Amino acid sequence: MGNQLANKTAIVTGAGSGIGAASATRFALEGAEVLVADIRLHKADQVAADIEDQGGIAMPCEVDVADPESVAAMVAKCIDQFGKLDVLFNNAGTVRPGTAPDLDPADWDLVMNVNVRSVYLGAKYAVPHMLTQGSGSIINTASISGLHGDGASVVYAASKGAVINLTRALSTDHAPQGIRVNAICPGTIATPPVQRMMADQEAYDRNIEAHALGRLGEPSEIANAALWLASDESSFVSGESIVVDGGLRARSPIGVMVDPRPQHKR
Ligand SMILES: NC(=O)c1ccc[n+]([C@@H]2O[C@H](COP(=O)([O-])OP(=O)(O)OC[C@H]3O[C@@H](n4cnc5c(N)ncnc54)[C@H](O)[C@@H]3O)[C@@H](O)[C@H]2O)c1
Repeated sequence: MGNQLANKTAIVTGAGSGIGAASATRFALEGAEVLVADIRLHKADQVAADIEDQGGIAMPCEVDVADPESVAAMVAKCIDQFGKLDVLFNNAGTVRPGTAPDLDPADWDLVMNVNVRSVYLGAKYAVPHMLTQGSGSIINTASISGLHGDGASVVYAASKGAVINLTRALSTDHAPQGIRVNAICPGTIATPPVQRMMADQEAYDRNIEAHALGRLGEPSEIANAALWLASDESSFVSGESIVVDGGLRARSPIGVMVDPRPQHKR
């Protein structure tokens, strides 16, 4: 057990699986009391039980992050159980692939609600509590898909781009009140939905090749970044979106430069 989040309380959404489960666990093992929130209560129950088995403090919570009443109840539960709210990790998200002609408008609304409306709702109900204590850290899971255009990904890319700029807007409003707001942009991380996508060998090979480190990321590697943003170690960081992508975005697809000098001058 570490103590980077000693005396802090945290809500992690989408904490029943993948990045959220790894982050809730890491936060708790660093001393935070953690509300493990997910739309799938049985998954949240399991993660909270695993945390308690490892000596941490965790409480499961059913939430639909797209629903105002549900998000308000989640924040109220954290205050009831733990007395305050220091860290809100808006991590729950969903994907519906598709080009504009293919995508069903209902899927557009679903992804925008789960990925973007959720961040607004989380801030709406968490900020008033953070204001009373004059501090707080809100972390949002964006994506490298919010920084450039992926194929057949119109709504996912739009939603994650919106999360990045919403992060800046929330920081602008609330950093002066001591509440820091940041986002994380993961590359491809080996979580259950990605593992299902990577069952397609061609997609797997393309993803490995795209990451300069030559592998997919692990949920724990995003949890490490979230821990830093949650902790006081990042006390002068707000409004930023931190890329954790195994070198994907840094590398130009043009590849290695060819020597332009005439042969005899080399
Ligand atoms: N895995 C990746 O490669 C990757 C890359 C970039 C960004 N992300 C983002 O990371 C976040 C976590 O994804 P993951 O890969 O860990 O997926 P995951 O499926 O393992 O976990 C997501 C969790 O969110 C929950 N959830 C879905 N809709 C919800 C709702 N309306 N209310 C509450 N909970 C809900 C699911 O039940 C699930 O447990 C998402 O925002 C995703 O867009 C993932």
